[in-house]
Amino acid sequence: MNTLYKIRNAERKSHESCYENNRLFEEGSWLAKPVSSVMDILPLLNKESSVKILDLGCGVGRNCIPAAQFFSKIKTPCFIDCVDLLDCAINQLMSYSKKYQVGDKIIPHTCAIEDFPIPPETYTLILGISSLEHAASLEHLKDLLSKISLGLKPKGIACLILNSNITEENTVDHSILLPQFEINLPTETMINLLKKSFSKCRVLQNRTSAQSYTIPREDLQVIIHTNVITYIVQKL
Ligand SMILES: C[S@@+](CC[C@H](N)C(=O)[O-])C[C@H]1O[C@@H](n2cnc3c(N)ncnc32)[C@H](O)[C@@H]1O
Repeated sequence: MNTLYKIRNAERKSHESCYENNRLFEEGSWLAKPVSSVMDILPLLNKESSVKILDLGCGVGRNCIPAAQFFSKIKTPCFIDCVDLLDCAINQLMSYSKKYQVGDKIIPHTCAIEDFPIPPETYTLILGISSLEHAASLEHLKDLLSKISLGLKPKGIACLILNSNITEENTVDHSILLPQFEINLPTETMINLLKKSFSKCRVLQNRTSAQSYTIPREDLQVIIHTNVITYIVQKL
């Protein structure tokens, strides 16, 4: 088994377990609430006559469903391309989007984020929430960041949240494990890559916070220690 296959297998199992065992917008997991940085951006787009959003690594719709509800409420036409590698994520996304009455605004794509075509100047908002570090390689990530930058419309916003400097620890014996992320860059290196990729954009937020959380990996529970980078930019 090659490394990418092993990492994707571990990630798939941990996400499938999370999506099967937890319900969207119910207490008990990170699926309970949308990301506040994403929700805070939406009012900045309320003057647009229509909104096209791309959610890369959308999961079951934790952020795109509230975004669709926000624009529905203010009667702004809104379409959201939602991309995830996992069938189970996309299937649940479709059923949750119907439950929350935004099924007609969500366009599902079962696809790797690095393979999804992003035409230039197309999107008002691009989300990459805890997903871009799962691009197949550093070269794929660089290419994807450049496509995101080009894919924004003038004044469009990209909200990116990325893990960096990741370590994984066995919760039982505290041994250090190999992090199961395709890309694990030192925080400074990741920030420099973001700055370079979005040099033609205005930086609205550049924040890093140290976080730790527990996830299932095979038959283990592991603690992930990570510096989470929130990088929000607006195209000039
Ligand atoms: C940590 S979850 C975050 C989900 C969502 N962005 C959120 O904030 O709720 C990461 C998601 O990215 C998806 N993913 C991981 N690698 C991917 C890839 N290369 N292409 C597409 N989706 C991917 C996973 O299946 C998972 O649903």
